[in-house]
Amino acid sequence: MEHVTAQGVEVPAIGLGTWRMTGETCRRAVGEALELGYRHVDTAQMYGNERAVGAAIAAADVDREEVFLTTKLALSNRTAEGVVRSTRASLNRLRTEYVDLLLIHQPHPTVADAETLDAMGKLVDEGLVRHVGVSNFSVDRLQRAREASPAPILTNQVQYHPFWDQTELLDYCRIHDLVLTAYSPLAHGGAIDDDTLDAIGARYGKSGAQVALRWLIQQDGVVAIPKSTSREHLRANLAVFDFALTDREMDAIARPSLVRTAESFLRGRLPF
Ligand SMILES: NC(=O)c1ccc[n+]([C@@H]2O[C@H](COP(=O)([O-])OP(=O)(O)OC[C@H]3O[C@@H](n4cnc5c(N)ncnc54)[C@H](OP(=O)(O)O)[C@@H]3O)[C@@H](O)[C@H]2O)c1
Repeated sequence: MEHVTAQGVEVPAIGLGTWRMTGETCRRAVGEALELGYRHVDTAQMYGNERAVGAAIAAADVDREEVFLTTKLALSNRTAEGVVRSTRASLNRLRTEYVDLLLIHQPHPTVADAETLDAMGKLVDEGLVRHVGVSNFSVDRLQRAREASPAPILTNQVQYHPFWDQTELLDYCRIHDLVLTAYSPLAHGGAIDDDTLDAIGARYGKSGAQVALRWLIQQDGVVAIPKSTSREHLRANLAVFDFALTDREMDAIARPSLVRTAESFLRGRLPF
């Protein structure tokens, strides 16, 4: 496993996303991922799966200290009191004394980021949270959050894949030594049957999905958190460190498209 280092913190370049997996499916997928070598797991209060994630980590033959564990504050838990109460409840469900990263899941329409970040900073001081960050923040809001936060902001977790551009944010993250965490790195599944990705993958004996992940992690400062419940896909998504894309291939893969992104998002939600 390779790591991305920012602010002296090492983050495993590939993590396991766990949105829309719950219960036994989630426990099994996280357990298999840890067995296969994943050391980074992304959950959220909103996903309703912290108990399953915690059970899988507790049962795994891997020390808790080796796993980079992220959770995110739900929209309803952003007041100072809500941050502290809900994070303690998350730790309880996750069966751990600390999380490596606590994120603001999305901008709040009324609670000031400063209030939320201040409470998150207190949790860092208490040792319940190692690092703090945000998710779905614009560059401007990220800048203001960095100014307001008593603890350094390690990452902005945002949608990033071949059909969604993040050039401006990525430049900002590199200048200020932040990690860009790419969510929905497979475009919610839309990167799986793409001719360009498949053709490039064929040159290296890799799938289109693997090329999409390689494209992300080959960019300085980017980590990716693909979700999978299939052992075969979990294994494939980790096998992206043994080949490198050329500059020309990197350029050919980036094809920002609102239509492609929206299509993939909707297809990923169909029940069939
Ligand atoms: N902060 C936020 O607001 C936010 C929003 C969205 C997502 N996220 C995080 O990002 C994670 C990933 O995003 P996502 O779940 O939206 O989508 P994704 O990782 O882009 O795509 C997941 C889909 O791709 C399939 N897949 C995975 N690996 C594959 C492979 N090697 N070959 C073929 N298909 C493969 C999965 O099916 P199988 O399960 O069958 O493999 C699943 O249908 C989430 O789980 C969550 O942790 C965060």
